[in-house]
Amino acid sequence: MTSLYIHIPFCKKKCNYCDFVSYAGAEDLIDKYVAALCKEINNLLTIYPERTLSEERSDESKGSRGTIYIGGGTPTLLSPRQTEKILCSVVSVRCSEISIEANPGTCNKAKLKELRQLGINRLSIGAQSFNDNHLKTLGRIHNAKDIFGFYDDARAAGFDNINLDLIFALPNQTLDEWKKDVEIALSLAPEHLSTYNLQVEKGTPIWEMTKIQAPNNKLQLPTEDEELAMYEYTIETLISKGYKHYEISNFAKPGFECKHNLVYWKNGNYLGVGAGAHSHINGQRFANSNDIDAYMRQVLGEERNEIRNALRGTPNDSHVASAQRETIFMGLRLLDGIPTEKFRGFEKEVAELIEDGLLMREKGNYKLTRKGLYLANLVFEKFV
Ligand SMILES: C[S@@+](CC[C@H](N)C(=O)[O-])C[C@H]1O[C@@H](n2cnc3c(N)ncnc32)[C@H](O)[C@@H]1O
Ligand code: SF4
Repeated sequence: MTSLYIHIPFCKKKCNYCDFVSYAGAEDLIDKYVAALCKEINNLLTIYPERTLSEERSDESKGSRGTIYIGGGTPTLLSPRQTEKILCSVVSVRCSEISIEANPGTCNKAKLKELRQLGINRLSIGAQSFNDNHLKTLGRIHNAKDIFGFYDDARAAGFDNINLDLIFALPNQTLDEWKKDVEIALSLAPEHLSTYNLQVEKGTPIWEMTKIQAPNNKLQLPTEDEELAMYEYTIETLISKGYKHYEISNFAKPGFECKHNLVYWKNGNYLGVGAGAHSHINGQRFANSNDIDAYMRQVLGEERNEIRNALRGTPNDSHVASAQRETIFMGLRLLDGIPTEKFRGFEKEVAELIEDGLLMREKGNYKLTRKGLYLANLVFEKFV
């Protein structure tokens, strides 16, 4: 079974913290981009029918069906007709999960209803915070009230599997403010919560805004201890409210773990289409150009078709070795960990991590300890 990721690299406005492949003010390219996506999907389905979602088409009772994830950027900038066109190119595929990422400032009730009718059954809402001051610092195009309205509209449209994205350790954010965000999120009772620690990426406006030497610097990032307190609070509170902490940043009500993202963390096979999208097939990885024009030229203009050529290669020893490292550091993100046999050849690293209290053995798996969870990057460094 293969999962499909569809990347939509358009945003109404670029947020101050974001370095994803997404561009503002390029909406006039959307129609052409949709045509390129459909063509790329058709190419892949023709070349690799055994790797596509199609094998799961006929029998709904089969346990393992494909997943589709429409991410961005801001997929909800597209009209329902444009989204339908993309989904139709995957032809009558029955998937267990079709997710779409949504920005509350780009979608209304009618659009949500149409998206649900297209078979999209999981909505991931970029809330980020319920505090209007923080939303402003982040450069979001919506306020907290918009998120509440959007959430209600999504429920009314029939979405019964909703994720909320939240970010903590924001500039000038106090622990009490974060607690309030968590409390509000819980009052909405989403099936899934992703809580990310703010990454201040070089080259983004927030990097400049929070620099010590920035003129009249009034924005201070929380200290490491404060960040840790926010993360600890999140884990304790969400678990006590019945959410399963199943990945470093992800919490789900029983049975609502994101199936598509589990494929990434388990280092499974997936195809990615669109600008900047990555694919992973049997230990080999491929990526499309981040540049929208270059991507469209390659797909529509038949200049070259890297995906087709690259996928024909046979994995060699170095692919196998790096695939094992990837399996380890992706899999350790999961709270259940991964089978001990996956660590063959890394006995020294494992012993050191156990000695440092970062890794533990449980039920035939190695998994992060609570300390390892807080210091996950130190653990991953051993395997990268
Ligand atoms: C590609 S965005 C998709 C959601 C949609 N574009 C939106 O923002 O509403 C996925 C999520 O990544 C998180 N994210 C993006 N940049 C981040 C950063 N620098 N630090 C922490 N989380 C980040 C945000 O929570 C965001 O909702
Ligand atoms: S809307 Fe989402 S993808 Fe677009 S800039 Fe903001 S965080 Fe990034």
